Amino acid sequence: MEYETPLFFHVMQYAAQADRDVVDMVSGNPDWEPPEALREGLHEYADLEPDQFQYPPSEGLLELREEIAARRGVDIEQVVVTNGAGEANYLAMARALERDRGDEILLTDPVYPYYPGKTTMLGGTQSFVAADEEGQLDPADVRAAASEETAAIVANSPNNPTGAVYPEETVRELVAIAEEYDAILVSDEVYDHFDLSGEFASALAFDSDHRIVTNAFSKSMAITGFRVGYAIFPPELVANAKSRHMLVNVAGSRPSQYAVLRALRETGPDYYERNRELLAERVETFTDALEAAGAEYTTPQGSFYVMARFEGYPGSLENAERLIDEAGVAGMPGEAFGDSRSDWLRFALVTPRVSEAADRLAAYFDDS
Ligand SMILES: Cc1ncc(COP(=O)(O)O)c(C=O)c1O
Repeated sequence: MEYETPLFFHVMQYAAQADRDVVDMVSGNPDWEPPEALREGLHEYADLEPDQFQYPPSEGLLELREEIAARRGVDIEQVVVTNGAGEANYLAMARALERDRGDEILLTDPVYPYYPGKTTMLGGTQSFVAADEEGQLDPADVRAAASEETAAIVANSPNNPTGAVYPEETVRELVAIAEEYDAILVSDEVYDHFDLSGEFASALAFDSDHRIVTNAFSKSMAITGFRVGYAIFPPELVANAKSRHMLVNVAGSRPSQYAVLRALRETGPDYYERNRELLAERVETFTDALEAAGAEYTTPQGSFYVMARFEGYPGSLENAERLIDEAGVAGMPGEAFGDSRSDWLRFALVTPRVSEAADRLAAYFDDS
């Protein structure tokens, strides 16, 4: 079996090796500060006794699971702490497939590329439902695509790469469709703290044995390197997921979980609000400049990303590399996210240099 390796690391490396200054808008790595309490927790950790340097419980530190369960209004037994949302999605998709109710995973187009990669790796088959131009998903299209073969529907809101935030009605319908077809809705909510629209609805709002919610602190606390996420399973699906997590990882990182727990307890809403405001400012700066440059672009309702289309410049890997070399701006080729956005490039607003990047793009496309 050949696995698809997502292109992100390739493009990031290409940008890092360029022999000119490049504004990196490839990765989803926040450039802002983590919560203060997270740094404090980490410092504190260094002086703990050696027993605290050993395996944590495989399913996650008890207090962290308690804190997550209380915040999300679920039973602690339903919570598995994972190595980021990446592992949470993997566990959720694997769990859906091993129910033997079909081997098809319904994905969206455009799609976050790790989902099709994981589907293939897990022996599932991929099927795509087109999102509209704004990135919204019509539940009627999902229902039309669903069948007895559908093991899971994987949805992501706020969405990477489109920036769409699905309204409550869409999420309710996705849960209902999963129930109708005895499938599992995997709801990846890793950008939930970056909802700029006020419309975000968590799938947790709809109680069901047919949905798994995945999330992480990677983005919300600006710590993609810490690898702390979680999945919330229906009670009858959680046991196998915990075993798979243990067989693959033994356990997660104890210092990371310790620091996240401290940050969760001590960080108020103003921290998250500040970061949302920063992002909203960057969206405005970047899209204003794209507008002035005559480009087509998306205005995200949430997440970190703006997609842009420049005439005569499709979003191929080759063109993304050319943009790095010739314009000094690194973005992701739209073709990495599926056929529907192959004319587009995706730019992550995780740099203070968004204005400079937009100026470079404007100048480049003006001249070329
Ligand atoms: C939609 C989506 N899900 C999951 C992830 C991975 O999150 P984590 O770093 O917590 O594994 C990302 C990272 O960019 C993402 O965009």
